Amino acid sequence: MSQSEAAVRLAVIPGDGVGPEVVAATIPVLEAALAVDGIVVELTELDWGGERYLREGAAMPTDAADIVGQHDAVLFGAVGRTDVPDDELVWGLIIGLRQQLDLAVNIRPVRAFPGVPTKVRDSDGVDLVIVRENTEGEYVGAGGLAHAGTGHDLGIEVAVHSRRVIERAAHHAFALAGRRSGRLALVTKSNAMRHGYPLWDRVVREVSEHYPDVTMEVVLVDAMAARMIQAPHSLDVLLASNLFGDILADLAAVLAGGMGMAPSANVRTDPGSVGIYEPVHGSAPDIAGKGIANPVACMLSGALLLEDLGHVGAAARVRDAVAAALVDPSHHTADLGGHATTAELSSAVLRKMEMHR
Ligand code: IPM
Ligand code: MN
Repeated sequence: MSQSEAAVRLAVIPGDGVGPEVVAATIPVLEAALAVDGIVVELTELDWGGERYLREGAAMPTDAADIVGQHDAVLFGAVGRTDVPDDELVWGLIIGLRQQLDLAVNIRPVRAFPGVPTKVRDSDGVDLVIVRENTEGEYVGAGGLAHAGTGHDLGIEVAVHSRRVIERAAHHAFALAGRRSGRLALVTKSNAMRHGYPLWDRVVREVSEHYPDVTMEVVLVDAMAARMIQAPHSLDVLLASNLFGDILADLAAVLAGGMGMAPSANVRTDPGSVGIYEPVHGSAPDIAGKGIANPVACMLSGALLLEDLGHVGAAARVRDAVAAALVDPSHHTADLGGHATTAELSSAVLRKMEMHR
């Protein structure tokens, strides 16, 4: 095997707030997991984010998509800082990347790890995945502000749902459900919205015909919000539009102990393309710089990254080590009710990996 075959070319965008802290805690864990298989990580650190925006007027360069394309995968920390309007940075970085790279789906697994406290009863053993459509819906940026400043200001935000995009997300979700429990819940709101969501229902039903081993139900998003807390074990794969998937992902994270535990993968649906892997939590400016952020969401995002690159063993090593570390409350960070620092939890994960080799 040549040198380059035994390397993962990883682009890293630490970004803003706690992003750099959780990314720094994650890289050594991914390196250690891959080292077992004799694979090295070739890191490219990209300084994209709020600081770059303040310095150069743009959060990322215009050839960002090309730069990303020169790597195998991207690990992304977080974007957002209090002195720059949120939408500027978000559109200038993560939403921009999702759209420019056409990252069709956002995979958001939610797993309750033994020993991690949650605020929800009966969340023990929860293990579900939200497949969120990642390029359309309310996130296309279509609309405008009319009569601005007249006192009759009119905000127009147009949601867009296309057959092609629904289909590709649906195929991804059904294939995933087929590899898991064979159960899929489509989340829409077709009782109140008469165009986009009925199209979702129709197209996803058509796609379901290709997956006879997967049973599908259609659940209204409001009912899903209640069910997620009341009967989370009745759920396995959820397929949702961009906005519904966004909202439900935060709710679902609570089942696993909160935002510090929620990983995600922004991926295309064609094999071999570059994905962006990011913790769902965001930049958390209130705790940034204190060294107390929970790095688990980022580490688990790293596990998704390794898995998608075919390094299944390394991915399992990361997850097993995280799980083993979390059993002991002395390794829990403040969000989990503990006193461990980011670095302490990271060291604990590394030690567990060492022990299980
Ligand atoms: C997420 C975030 C983003 C989203 C924001 C930062 C635009 O909340 O990844 O869930 O809404 O997609
Ligand atoms: Mn979100």
